Amino acid sequence: MTATNSTMSIAIVSGKGGVGKTNISLNLGYALSQLGHPTLIMDADLGLANLDVLLGISPEYNIQDVITKDVAPRDVVVAINQQGLDLLPAASGIADLVDLDEDVQSLLLTRLKPLFHAYDYLLLDLGAGINPTVLSFAAMAQERLVVLTPEPTSLTDSYALIKILTTEHGVKNFQVIVNMTDSTQEARQTFDRLFAACHHFLGIKIQYLGLVRHDKAVTESVRKQEPLVKWAHRSPAALNIKTIAESLHKQRSLLAHLIAKSSVLRVPYGAHARSYSQK
Ligand SMILES: Nc1ncnc2c1ncn2[C@@H]1O[C@H](COP(=O)(O)OP(=O)(O)OP(=O)(O)O)[C@@H](O)[C@H]1O
Ligand SMILES: [Mg+2]
Repeated sequence: MTATNSTMSIAIVSGKGGVGKTNISLNLGYALSQLGHPTLIMDADLGLANLDVLLGISPEYNIQDVITKDVAPRDVVVAINQQGLDLLPAASGIADLVDLDEDVQSLLLTRLKPLFHAYDYLLLDLGAGINPTVLSFAAMAQERLVVLTPEPTSLTDSYALIKILTTEHGVKNFQVIVNMTDSTQEARQTFDRLFAACHHFLGIKIQYLGLVRHDKAVTESVRKQEPLVKWAHRSPAALNIKTIAESLHKQRSLLAHLIAKSSVLRVPYGAHARSYSQK
């Protein structure tokens, strides 16, 4: 009998760079661990990794060492807090690994999968844009959180990313976080525009997950190299991220039966309405 899966995998993606994916990955992971869920953040921005910088740590090993030096995945993991938040760090500036070829990527995933099963959530912090490695990681996750800001360029780039994932990778489920916004109304309007374009041109209904306010505490936490939800846990942005963590927690309970039948990361190109594929 095969064991059932209970890990929910979530890729954090964006069309435009610098919209807050890495900060959201780290703090969402932190908030999920505080809700009692062991969570692994994988730094999947293999070319320009920076979760280690946000945390002010210098990991001994990184994901690339799993392939190039045969290091065991367990030995690469770094514990971030006592509540079960762990990081799988990547290396920066290794151009060869930005675009993993399919064989290398599948070898890497085969080696990482047993590790993933130890967690309730796997968050993939991806690079911006539409390079093949980003797209395939984004398509393999069960859920995708599209981060955008109210800027028009962020909107058009988000649409371009969703379009390519839908039309070329058969992915239909996207949840949206509007970051760096000044009001609930602005966030809703930003989402509504993206929703309308996706519905009209692609025939899909994207979901609103929440907003994160523009908050100088975020920048300060980056300077201090401390997670925002730890360092300024009552700041507006930290409270927003905790609310999003609670929504994901509810989703995981509601989707438990689908997650149980899924792979942590599916082989792409399925015809499933949601990315919960058979193992
Ligand atoms: N809610 C916010 N309020 C204020 N500043 C923010 C907020 N979210 C992110 N930032 C700032 O925006 C910058 C970019 O954030 P981050 O590195 O998380 O983006 P990213 O999407 O991961 O970028 P990249 O595409 O390069 O990986 C950081 O300097 C961060 O401090
Ligand atoms: Mg980033």
